[in-house]
Amino acid sequence: MGTAPATGTVTVRPARAADVPDIFDNISHWAGQGRMLVRPMQNIFENLRDFFVAEEHTAEGPVFAGNGALHLLWGDIAEVRGLCVAPGIQARGVGRQLVAACEEEARRVGIPTLFAWTYEVGFFEKCGFTLIEKNSDLHPRVWSECLRCPFFVGCNENGVVKHLEGVPRPVNLPEPPAAIVPPGIR
Ligand SMILES: CC(C)(COP(=O)(O)OP(=O)(O)OC[C@H]1O[C@@H](n2cnc3c(N)ncnc32)[C@H](O)[C@@H]1OP(=O)(O)O)[C@@H](O)C(=O)NCCC(=O)NCCS
Repeated sequence: MGTAPATGTVTVRPARAADVPDIFDNISHWAGQGRMLVRPMQNIFENLRDFFVAEEHTAEGPVFAGNGALHLLWGDIAEVRGLCVAPGIQARGVGRQLVAACEEEARRVGIPTLFAWTYEVGFFEKCGFTLIEKNSDLHPRVWSECLRCPFFVGCNENGVVKHLEGVPRPVNLPEPPAAIVPPGIR
């Protein structure tokens, strides 16, 4: 049996069904402030295997500290989404740990590029991402997802990518279906 994490430390693990209310409340909190998209609880359950949860270890036991998800878009790209740290524990490295968990999962699956839509470009740059020109540099599957977003008209989020060193593009990868570029973004 391993030793319990030290009090005050934060660890990240795959999400479980019992985490969904905390994930939902956390996303709803930040979505209410216009910092990210709202996500219905059903959507969180349906995509739960994408999600990671951060927890802070206290004398009373682990406390929910944040969530983030890695969603595969195609064989060469996956999106970091639903990323938010619980209110009150920003700037303690929790966001970086959640992104690192997504990156590790992408490496495990063999996906060479991470993508994210965000208002927090500075944070993602600290995590090794680069801002891209969203009118020309986007992967077609990213556009396809935009079509399903209720805010695609006049979207002002930024696109950021990170190419994972040492992860080759899968061989014999088929071309993704052609994307229809949504009006209002170009
Ligand atoms: C954005 C967010 C995920 C960052 O997580 P965090 O735990 O506060 O950030 P970390 O402590 O891991 O920061 C890692 C690094 O990024 C920097 N950083 C964090 N937020 C930043 C920002 N908005 N601009 C510039 N740099 C930032 C930190 O200073 C730190 O740099 P350092 O390593 O040189 O010290 C978190 O603040 C959050 O949940 N915000 C509200 C919801 C949100 O905006 N989610 C993003 C949706 S894409």
